[in-house]
Amino acid sequence: MTDITINTCHKLRDVSPLLYGIFFEDINYAGDGGLYGELIANRSFEYYDRDGETDKSKMCWETIGNGNLSVSKRFPLSQAHSHYGRLSGEAGDGIRNLGFCGEGLAVREGEVFLFSCSARNASPMKLTVRLADSRGTCFGQKTFSLVRTGRGWTKYRLTFTADGCCNQVFPEILLETPGAVDLDLLSLFPQDTFLGRKNGMRRDLAQMLQALSPKFMRFPGGCIVEGRSFENMYCWKDTIGDLTQRPTNWNRWQMEEYQINGQVSLDYFQSYGLGFYEYFQFCEDIGASPVPVINAGMTCQWHEGLLADMNALDKWIQDALDLIEFANGPADSTWGGRRAAMGHPEPFRLKYIGIGNEQWGEVYFERYEAFQKVLSEKHPEIRLITSAGWTAEGEEFDLAYRWMNANKDKAYAVDEHFYKSPRWFLENIHRYDSYDRSLPKVFAGEYAAHTHENTGERVCNWEAALCEAAFLTGLEHNADHVVMSCYAPLFGRTGHQQWQPDLIWFDNHSAYGTPSYYVQKLFANHVGDVLVETRISEDGETLSGLAKIAGKSLQVSSTLSENGLRLYVKLVNLADTPKEVRLCPDQPISHCTFHEIAAGLEAVNSHETPENVSPRVSEPLPRDGSLLLTCEPYSVNVLELDL
Ligand code: AHR
Repeated sequence: MTDITINTCHKLRDVSPLLYGIFFEDINYAGDGGLYGELIANRSFEYYDRDGETDKSKMCWETIGNGNLSVSKRFPLSQAHSHYGRLSGEAGDGIRNLGFCGEGLAVREGEVFLFSCSARNASPMKLTVRLADSRGTCFGQKTFSLVRTGRGWTKYRLTFTADGCCNQVFPEILLETPGAVDLDLLSLFPQDTFLGRKNGMRRDLAQMLQALSPKFMRFPGGCIVEGRSFENMYCWKDTIGDLTQRPTNWNRWQMEEYQINGQVSLDYFQSYGLGFYEYFQFCEDIGASPVPVINAGMTCQWHEGLLADMNALDKWIQDALDLIEFANGPADSTWGGRRAAMGHPEPFRLKYIGIGNEQWGEVYFERYEAFQKVLSEKHPEIRLITSAGWTAEGEEFDLAYRWMNANKDKAYAVDEHFYKSPRWFLENIHRYDSYDRSLPKVFAGEYAAHTHENTGERVCNWEAALCEAAFLTGLEHNADHVVMSCYAPLFGRTGHQQWQPDLIWFDNHSAYGTPSYYVQKLFANHVGDVLVETRISEDGETLSGLAKIAGKSLQVSSTLSENGLRLYVKLVNLADTPKEVRLCPDQPISHCTFHEIAAGLEAVNSHETPENVSPRVSEPLPRDGSLLLTCEPYSVNVLELDL
């Protein structure tokens, strides 16, 4: 029997209110083709070959019947949408969109869809939009009339309802009358987006994020922020305003060394329909503090590593200043006005900005300092986050800490990344115990336990999640200094991932959380405001299983709510044997909810068995002021105690 005594009167450290958050990047089709509700791929015929060798403007589209589709640039919809499609043919001819990854979309009976497009035609005509499977069976359609336009464009919006269920249908646009029509910004959304927002997010995926109760969201990346060229860099200004003003950019994850099954993703673009306004709005919707990451005037250092000249950095710094105004400025300021025009006159309450993603070296810190000088002077209220490179040790990491030692006041926090083996997570449970508290705080901005690294499989199994859980108890012990943390990446589109493991997997009709997802959810939803003293009786245990690496079977953390009425106790059993535990808080327990996850180390979740590894909940009764529990082998146990 292991006795665990909790002394709620002995408060050890504050727990950062932002400890658990999420990190969103458009990788693995997480944005276009994922969280972003748009169902039509290449909706504006703007896909392009970054080498300029092949024409990709018709990518994701095919013709129906004898229909002809050509792409033109004469008198376009806007400068940002400089291409459009011209459909011509006889009645019944048309075009079909293949959807993201060529997988179309799923429909459920009664589901309402919003279709919109911009059209230009020389004579009045009729079009039909419909959803049909590969055999031509129709699952919903609507015919609409087009007025004759001159050189201008007319916008059409219509709704229609699916009259059946199918996991794979394709949107089709058919001519009802012979002729030709120019089409651009062809868009199809489910009406039922997250909170019903226009240009909104896929509801099930957004709800899975909301269920994590993230206290912040880091966005939009990731390497996406850095890009592979100056043109490819993420520029937030390209992502706001009317959709017709947002240019398409190729997604730098199109071609990566992390190709699963030799797959590359040549149809992977950023429409920027999911842009900074939508990110800020989403943060507000889910109660997360926005943490945008901006480009520091550098492209990805893993690849080209292009650097903006120090004398030309003003443009990037101005972008950062404008971003602060966009988020927080009054509605009558230039950029605050852009926000207000999009529907949000109130500020978004931006408090944190990351400068650069995963940058390192002298070249980074001289650029960081240029940003910091201006931003700290003009916006001392904004907390700046610096980078410590691509991994949490080694030469570049040490350089970052040397820089911080010499520049303690120039950053609020440092962004540490660690994609490491499960063993590393166990060996690093106490990593932050000895961190110098006079240095900038730590933001564990990207991490995940990578299993089976030798085969490249990196399975999202229970071993990874369990070791992350043990590590997170260590973060809770140091949550005065480690103020934020988030797992990465967040999403993977099944069969089309450039990177794994990922926290949530989805296809067109379902989504599931990995074991790591359930650990994140349990930890983030059950954390107090202050760490309290916890003592574990030494029972001279024989270490078994993963406990041999950590040096102890039970990893424990106890945190108390601010009002002192709720105590959260986390117990991670790393042994391959059960542990009998007697839990004795120094105050009477009036009610207890017990969440436990236990599984074999190789256990996984899947689309077919989404909750194979997930919490079981019970309400054990306290006796004589204590609780008797069994922590199963390889288990994560979270107790919610009302005192
Ligand atoms: O999370 C995947 C990638 O890992 C991120 O884009 C990058 O910051 C890191 O290298």
